[in-house]
Amino acid sequence: MDVEITLRVDGTEHRLIVDTRTTLLDALRERLGNTSPKKGCDHGQCGACTLLIDGRRGLGCLALAVAHQGADIVTAAGLADGDGGGLHPLQRSFITHDAFQCGYCTPGQIVSAAGMLSEAEAGWPSAVSKDPSATDVVLDDEEIAERMSGNLCRCAAYMNIVPAISEVAHR
Ligand code: FES
Ligand code: FES
Repeated sequence: MDVEITLRVDGTEHRLIVDTRTTLLDALRERLGNTSPKKGCDHGQCGACTLLIDGRRGLGCLALAVAHQGADIVTAAGLADGDGGGLHPLQRSFITHDAFQCGYCTPGQIVSAAGMLSEAEAGWPSAVSKDPSATDVVLDDEEIAERMSGNLCRCAAYMNIVPAISEVAHR
């Protein structure tokens, strides 16, 4: 069955007709031509498809497009401000720290990192937080690794990904 929905993607509103079985990831990539989110496992295991959905990180491959009528979606491409030199601080830091090899996981890593920084700023604890009731989250390497554990990198660039995120977290 086809349904008409509206999605705001990286600041632009789109109206499209999708089969009710279409995932958000496929709607973005196949219907809107936005290939910033990557399809890795297509099973919610790798994080390559991570998006900010209404400000919170989520997996595009596990989300049905029809369930997100009117949602505000941000991809890694949309994190840049688009003025030419306007890369997001996380994007700049990933480049500075050489935090990728093939780059396939990188958009998902960067979007996830952006969501994770907001979650930490809001005081959300993680599985390794010493004091779950603390409102000031100290993002040490252990916290960053745990909070980014849903994002896998087949090139194993973690040694540089963690410092790249850490630098932005501690500005
Ligand atoms: S493609 Fe969505 S988690 Fe792997
Ligand atoms: S940089 Fe290649 S998969 Fe992460």
